[in-house]
This record gives sequence, C-alpha cells and structure tokens, in this order.
Amino acid sequence: MGQVTLRGVSKHYGTVEAVRDFDLKVMDREFLVLLGPSGCGKSTVLRIIAGLEDPDEGTVEIGDRVVNDVEPKDRNIAMVFQNYALYPHMTVHRNIDFPLKCRGMPKPERDGLVAEAAESLGLTPLLDRRPAQLSGGQRQRVALARAIVRRPEVFLMDEPLSNLDAKLRVQTRTELIELQRRLATTVVYVTHDQIEGMTMANRLAVMNEGALEQVAPPSEVYAHPASLFVAQFIGNPPMNTVIGKPARVDGELGIETSGGQIPLTPGQCQAVEASSAESVAVGMRPERITIASSGPLPATVAVVESLGSEHHVICRLADDQEVVVRLGTDVPVPKEGARVHLGFEAGHLHLFDAATGDRIGL
Ligand SMILES: Nc1ncnc2c1ncn2[C@@H]1O[C@H](COP(=O)(O)OP(=O)(O)OP(=O)(O)O)[C@@H](O)[C@H]1O
Ligand SMILES: [Mg+2]
Repeated sequence: MGQVTLRGVSKHYGTVEAVRDFDLKVMDREFLVLLGPSGCGKSTVLRIIAGLEDPDEGTVEIGDRVVNDVEPKDRNIAMVFQNYALYPHMTVHRNIDFPLKCRGMPKPERDGLVAEAAESLGLTPLLDRRPAQLSGGQRQRVALARAIVRRPEVFLMDEPLSNLDAKLRVQTRTELIELQRRLATTVVYVTHDQIEGMTMANRLAVMNEGALEQVAPPSEVYAHPASLFVAQFIGNPPMNTVIGKPARVDGELGIETSGGQIPLTPGQCQAVEASSAESVAVGMRPERITIASSGPLPATVAVVESLGSEHHVICRLADDQEVVVRLGTDVPVPKEGARVHLGFEAGHLHLFDAATGDRIGL
C-alpha cells in the first residue's frame, strides 16, 4: 500500500529550522500537494521522504514499514524534479530503460515495460530521439516515463512543471492527473503555485516556515482557511483583511475598525467572545463584497482594473486600508474616484486573531 506517514519530523540546517514537528499522513492513491511560499521547507520534506536527507527527529513510514534506515533506492519511490535530469547522450528509449537496467532486469522484460510507459505518455514516436531533439514538454514526459516504468508505490514530484510555458503547464497538469488516476498510485507533489495546488490536489497541505498550517481538500482550504496565512496565500486576488477590535454598538457585538463598524452573526459573536482575541483580522474574499450606495464600510474607488472576464475594483477605506472587490461583467462598475459603500454578508466573513493568526469560529 502506498501510504506515506511522517511523525514528529524535524530538520535543521545549522540554525535554520527547515521542517518543524511535521505530522502528515498521505493516503494510498492520494494526490497530495505540498503548497507554500519559497523557502518554507517543501523540498526538504520531499527529500526526507525520498531518503535524500535524514530527519533530525521523527519517523518516516512508506506503506507499513518505517524507512528511516532504508536506502533511497530501496524505498520503492520515484522522484521527478523540475530539471528533468535526462541523460543527454542517451535516446529516449535508453533514458526510460535506465532505471530498469540498473536493477539488472532482463532485456525482453525491460523492453515491454519501456514500450508500455512510452505509450501511456505518447512518447512512442520519439523513442529514438535524444533529449536535445525534444521540446520542454516532451522532455518532461520522458522524465515521467522514466519514473513510472519502475512501478513505484509512491511518486514524489518537486515542481515538475515549472520549466514549461504557461500553456504547456496547463496541458501537462491535466495529463499528470489522468496518469495518476490510471496508474492508481500515490503522489506527493510540491509546488508554490496555488492554482496548480488547487486544481490538482485531492488534499492540500499548506506549509509556512517549516510547519503545516492546514491539510484539507482545496475547496475546504478556500472556504475555511485555518489561519490568516492560509487565507491570504490561497485566492487571487488575495483575501482582503481589515483589522479591528471587538466592540458593542447599541448592544450588538461587531468589529470596530477605523473605516467603520463590521456587523457579525450571532455565531461569530459567540466565537469572538470565547476567543481571547483583543484584535481581530476580518477577512473578506474579493468576490463576496458588493458595491452599493449604503453599507457598513464607506470607501472611495481608487482604481478599476478590467481583465475582460471580470473587474477588480480597488477601493480605499476612510483609514486608507485597501480593499479589492471582484465584480463580474454583468454588474455595473463604479468610476474611479466614486464614493461608495462596501457590503457583505456577515456569514461570508472570515475572522482571525490578529496576534496569533488563528481562525476564530468555523
Ligand atoms: N542544504 C542546505 N543547507 C542549508 N540550508 C538549507 C539547505 N537546504 C535547504 N535549506 C534551507 O532550508 C529552508 C527550506 O528549504 P527548502 O528547499 O525545503 O524550501 P522550498 O519550500 O522547497 O523552497 P522553494 O519553493 O524555493 O523551492 C530554506 O530556508 C533553505 O534556505
Ligand atoms: Mg523547493
């Protein structure tokens, strides 16, 4: 079974804490995406699973065995990197064949497996070419073929699409997902690209500064980000946040900001009271905000960006905080300089303790 379990894993490089107390269980046949900004420790986690780095603490299990003391080549994993690392002097056929040959498998058996892997990635007509005679996308497919030919239990992929141009990246993304379903294998996939993460993952594991912030399906991460960091990392344009303090106006608890009073639902009021937060970050997704002639937050329209399929209206609150509103093309768009009011349903707000970044309530 291809599950991967990390328990209490940490790794330092000198004084840098690259991975901090990491607990993660990747299910058999799951496509799990490790997502996070540059330097947050994604590659280190992958390299620890692969056995290319030893953790300072914690255990790594692949299937149902602890592999801390198992050599990388005996872990039954295959790794695909950003730079495909093909052998330039070898044909596509020999590149794909290489890992099998290293294992001493007899030629007839190898030829069958190479033909099958090449076929499943559309490489059959290219088997006699060398890497220099291929496009970037074709090279990446050769790297994938070389990884799948060994039938590993688990694939580890580190930004495998980042060298491809935008169009090819989208196409290869789809091919990779289809391949994973067809082979029914487990994939741990590293990227800093939130769109890649959102579109490919069964579950997203969002990392920040060496630690896991949230592990959940993409829709759940988007709808209920567990922390302010996740809230602002996922979504484009990013979630707006306005900082304020819990305060009562006419007996009703809300969040008082210098730009206006933000009303809350009864459930949110309870959650804010139960938390000891002195200062609250109120998160608003740009597509959840409406522009009207009245509403809780007065604002001035600073800039309107038209993207064809949507508009981004950048508004400035009374206290100069910026709020981006995403409007479809079927609603009226205000003019730059217009004085407006921003509205939202309290149920669509996200509340975080501004000091810790922890989510408040559901
Ligand atoms: N061999 C090393 N020696 C010292 N520091 C290292 C080493 N490898 C990684 N680090 C540090 O550990 C931290 C995590 O690095 P890692 O490569 O895992 O990040 P990443 O999330 O993969 O980033 P990126 O998206 O840029 O690839 C970084 O601060 C990095 O500088
Ligand atoms: Mg990396």
